[in-house]
Amino acid sequence: MKTQAAVLWDLGDPWSLEEVDLAEPVAGEVKVKLAASGLCHSDEHLVTGDIPVTLPVVGGHEGAGVVEAVGPGVTSVAAGDHVVLSFIPSCGRCRWCSTGHQNLCDLGAHLLAGVPIADGIHRFSSKGRGLGTMCLLGTFSPYTVVHEASVVKIDDSIPLDKAALVGCGVTTGWGSAVYAAQVEAGETVVVVGIGGVGINAVQGASLAGARRIVAVDPVPFKLEQAKIFGATHTSPDMESAKALVEELTMGEMADKAILTVGVAEGHLVAPLMDLISKQGRAVVTAVAPMQQMDVKLNLHLMTLFQKQLHGAIFGSANPRADIPKLLALYKEGQLKLDELVTRSYSLEDVNQGYQDMRDGKNIRGVILYD
Ligand SMILES: NC(=O)c1ccc[n+]([C@@H]2O[C@H](COP(=O)([O-])OP(=O)(O)OC[C@H]3O[C@@H](n4cnc5c(N)ncnc54)[C@H](O)[C@@H]3O)[C@@H](O)[C@H]2O)c1
Ligand SMILES: [Zn+2]
Ligand SMILES: [Zn+2]
Repeated sequence: MKTQAAVLWDLGDPWSLEEVDLAEPVAGEVKVKLAASGLCHSDEHLVTGDIPVTLPVVGGHEGAGVVEAVGPGVTSVAAGDHVVLSFIPSCGRCRWCSTGHQNLCDLGAHLLAGVPIADGIHRFSSKGRGLGTMCLLGTFSPYTVVHEASVVKIDDSIPLDKAALVGCGVTTGWGSAVYAAQVEAGETVVVVGIGGVGINAVQGASLAGARRIVAVDPVPFKLEQAKIFGATHTSPDMESAKALVEELTMGEMADKAILTVGVAEGHLVAPLMDLISKQGRAVVTAVAPMQQMDVKLNLHLMTLFQKQLHGAIFGSANPRADIPKLLALYKEGQLKLDELVTRSYSLEDVNQGYQDMRDGKNIRGVILYD
């Protein structure tokens, strides 16, 4: 079929809206008519080259929609089912999937190439070239064809434009607090960077029963929003957050700190580790440029204070269990999704959406399809 897509042809280019060809699903694949796609910072990392994917690529990895057709052998979903697209596929069989770590599924190895797992042949094409898809999804198009491993069936009553956000930002942020940081009732937690991911780390810490949640961001609007999601204190930067946490905890410092800034940089690790107490845990969820090797870290204090520095992909969550779980919490009024969306856009306005993200105007921008 012919459809439209926002394509990145070269590093530093704007997203280019193209008419594209989309092939039908082969065995093991699912064609989805998308309702919405979130504008996550990770697609910006493709533009800057921080995440070195094979170009050209159809962007977008935070989507939800309705299954339009399935290829041979697909058993977990059928036409008409509502689905969230998970930015990490899960095969259910590899060592990681079978031990409760679906976020680390071996199929994740296909993410940077962005070429269909089933047969290595692009489903999207334009101007005679095959187009890869961001995280094997390509949600910057009203239609996409993805592997069954990337779709999670959901309750039909959940609005799809809100469900889309659970495909990346919500689960990543919530899980960064609940699973990766293992926030416990009564703890003090600092979340550094309040975008679509960080705000959900605030929300996860709050649901886990944190006593104090310090939201850190230079943009005053972000800090105001963080309070709606459970932040008890705010700070414009890590330096002032350190002084605040020192005062709040009588020098003990925070139990957990979570880094969710737009771009992780090595020099941010030392001030992040300064925020946590003895035995404290710092979680790095923000993505750094792949080539970056140098990190500022007081290694001496890390050892003597027994501090932990922990990475986290997809919030250490299991997409097949956690996406439905988070949507059930939303349905019961315990998880906020509606309040996450600051602005919505048409696909034509995807570049404006990213400019608004860079300008600090959005908690999350969302593309809505018909
Ligand atoms: N690990 C994962 O699985 C995963 C998944 C999704 C996104 N990410 C990454 O998480 C990060 C956040 O994504 P997002 O979509 O929320 O981004 P975003 O751009 O919407 O939000 C980032 C926020 O960080 C703030 N910020 C920037 N520098 C800061 C600093 N030094 N101190 C405090 N705040 C600062 C910005 O003002 C902004 O509000 C990105 O790096 C993204 O690629 C990781
Ligand atoms: Zn994302
Ligand atoms: Zn697996």
